[in-house]
Amino acid sequence: MSQSTNQTMSKFYLTTPLYYPNARPHVGSAYTTIVCDVIARYKRMCGYDVAYLTGTDEHGEKLQRAAEAAGIAPADFVAEKRKLFIDLWKKLGIDYSHFVYTDQPEHVKSVQRLIRLAQKNESIYKSHYQGRYCVHDERYVSDGTDPADCDICGRPAELINEQNYFFKLSAFQDRLLDLYDKRPDFVQPDYRMNEVKSFVKGGLRDISISRRRLKWGIPWPDDPEEVVYVWYDALAGYMTGIGYAEGESGSAEFHKLWPADLHMIGKDILRFHAVYWPAFLMAAELPLPQTVFAHGWIYYEQDKMSKSKGNVVYPEPIVDALDSFGAPGNDALRYYLLRDTPFGQDASFSYDGLIQRYNSDLANDLGNLVSRTLTMMVQYFEGTVPSPSTLTTGDDDVRNLAERAADEFNGCFRHYWFPQGLDAVWTLIAKLNQYLVENQPWVLAKDPHKRDRLATVLWITGESVRFAAALLYPVIPKAAMKVWRHLGLGGSPADMTDVRIQLVWGGLEPGAKVGKPEAIFPRLDKAVTLAKLNELAEADRKGHPAPTEKEKTSVETPSGEKPATSEPAEAQPVAAPVATPEWQGSTGFQPVKEETARMAVPQTASKISIEDFAKVEMRVGEIISAEPIPKATKLLKLQVDIGTEVRQVCAGIAEHYQPEQLVGMKVVLVTNLQPRKLRGVESNGMIVAASVGDDGRPVLVTFKEDVPKGARLR
Ligand code: MSP
Repeated sequence: MSQSTNQTMSKFYLTTPLYYPNARPHVGSAYTTIVCDVIARYKRMCGYDVAYLTGTDEHGEKLQRAAEAAGIAPADFVAEKRKLFIDLWKKLGIDYSHFVYTDQPEHVKSVQRLIRLAQKNESIYKSHYQGRYCVHDERYVSDGTDPADCDICGRPAELINEQNYFFKLSAFQDRLLDLYDKRPDFVQPDYRMNEVKSFVKGGLRDISISRRRLKWGIPWPDDPEEVVYVWYDALAGYMTGIGYAEGESGSAEFHKLWPADLHMIGKDILRFHAVYWPAFLMAAELPLPQTVFAHGWIYYEQDKMSKSKGNVVYPEPIVDALDSFGAPGNDALRYYLLRDTPFGQDASFSYDGLIQRYNSDLANDLGNLVSRTLTMMVQYFEGTVPSPSTLTTGDDDVRNLAERAADEFNGCFRHYWFPQGLDAVWTLIAKLNQYLVENQPWVLAKDPHKRDRLATVLWITGESVRFAAALLYPVIPKAAMKVWRHLGLGGSPADMTDVRIQLVWGGLEPGAKVGKPEAIFPRLDKAVTLAKLNELAEADRKGHPAPTEKEKTSVETPSGEKPATSEPAEAQPVAAPVATPEWQGSTGFQPVKEETARMAVPQTASKISIEDFAKVEMRVGEIISAEPIPKATKLLKLQVDIGTEVRQVCAGIAEHYQPEQLVGMKVVLVTNLQPRKLRGVESNGMIVAASVGDDGRPVLVTFKEDVPKGARLR
């Protein structure tokens, strides 16, 4: 069955972020690792020689303090926590090839080498840093002595006065902009590239890349009083893990694999990867990665997961609960995360959603199809694959659809459009279920003259299921493998070296012995499963006590910071309280203050009369265009048709809605507000949105029924 094109295999090197091992990984942190596992498996099937690196980012003040709070030496603390990551990846079946941790001895050499190269090229200088630092929020409050108090928590901020090494980031502005212009795929999705570009165009300032007060880090080359800024240290981990520290300039493997083809990251750490990292590499004259892809966040209960908020979901009890009902827990979780998250955007995780998606797609659509097909092969053909004969147009249609599904799936997965790729497979699955209903093999089976037709119908179905199993392998590897085996196929879908080429119609072998039609995807009873999920999650919580108050403070999220810091980005990015674009993260730049144009309801609003309410005119409008506003990362400029006219409105929703997602949406517009200018753009009305969670995520009000434009809300 192997028809692999035996050309030299291209390499594909992909990485997850290196996780802070200050807390155990939750579903949010597992998300990137799962996505990368799917990509790694898919790329291997496409014939790439794949290297997949993950690991832990173990230095910095947060970890030092977390270790102090736990009363353990930092090295022991991180080693213990690192294990939690390794154990979880094992449980989730993550098939990575390289694991790096920044406390490993070679990493010192790697980082120091990178710094020496930048020094040689005069990209580093020593200077004095003075600024206020808020220990509670782990952020620099100002570059000078004022203000003295933290503007977020109000606590007095410490005055930091030290000699630091600075990286000449400002000198790289033009080269970075040139990079973005010449390689538009460098940052994906493209709307993130626009954010990065406008950020860099806004001007770059040099950054401090060492810390004097901190002990837990990589010693600065020839100046052991200083340790290297934790992000400089961590990013270099992508190279340490593949042998950069070896020899004069890295091992043979390093030269084969570098530069990375894909750094998959969450949107909160985009600046470090799309601005700092290429600048650090340029300074060392090293090749730049191909693509940095920033995905969205996984929310839980309408809020970003955060250990300190107590709304974290862990993967282990989910997998165990589903496994306990005979369902493939890992596959179900992977499928749900990929299928229900428009890749790149934020998504909400819920147990309900997981069960529903599992039942409808895996148990009903795919599971029923597989078990019906196998059952009939067992019943009517003594458990063997029947042999097809004369084909009808209907049979050819199925074949065409299967081939089209493979093409579409590839077209989508190549661009990391996971839900769309999966949709293509489900179109095929739906068609097959319909094909069975139309051809009624159970009726054909009653007539001995129709045996050939029966055989053909079942073979066509089985062959198409083979297509589906192969395509789904990267996402649901265990279940796909089971289906594969049950169809009497040898090897594994993973052995295929090119998804499209291998999926040549006709691979299902007549006469092959099929497996017993056991339920690969048993249906889950919602109430019973929910109870089990909650029970196991509760037991899991008890087995992993929440951090003490002291530990909490030491791992709590910092916020938007000033340029010259050497702090790590937030340990739990999911808890950032400030209104900065998430990717501007914690280190570096002040949040740009933007007025938001959405309606917020004060918690303590006093009562108003109906007459007062009647003063507010709200109408239904249809968004006919939406576009970003340059240099205003939170705002979108919308044209809203309210029936009698088209209104231009600026809305502070850019971080949560993509422009293309909004066009055609019916929304509620407050139409009798005084027009005002936001960032120099006139806004004539206000879109009504719910403000959800601590960070006030806007959720636009819309309608389930079709409502005419201009209709008044009363
Ligand atoms: N240590 C740095 C990365 C250094 S890479 C050289 C770091 N670590 S982290 O543990 O705080 O976050 C790691 C990744 O997990 C980030 O990409 C972050 O976006 C991701 N996630 C953490 N919580 C998440 C969700 N709730 N949802 C999706 N991804 C989330 O940053």
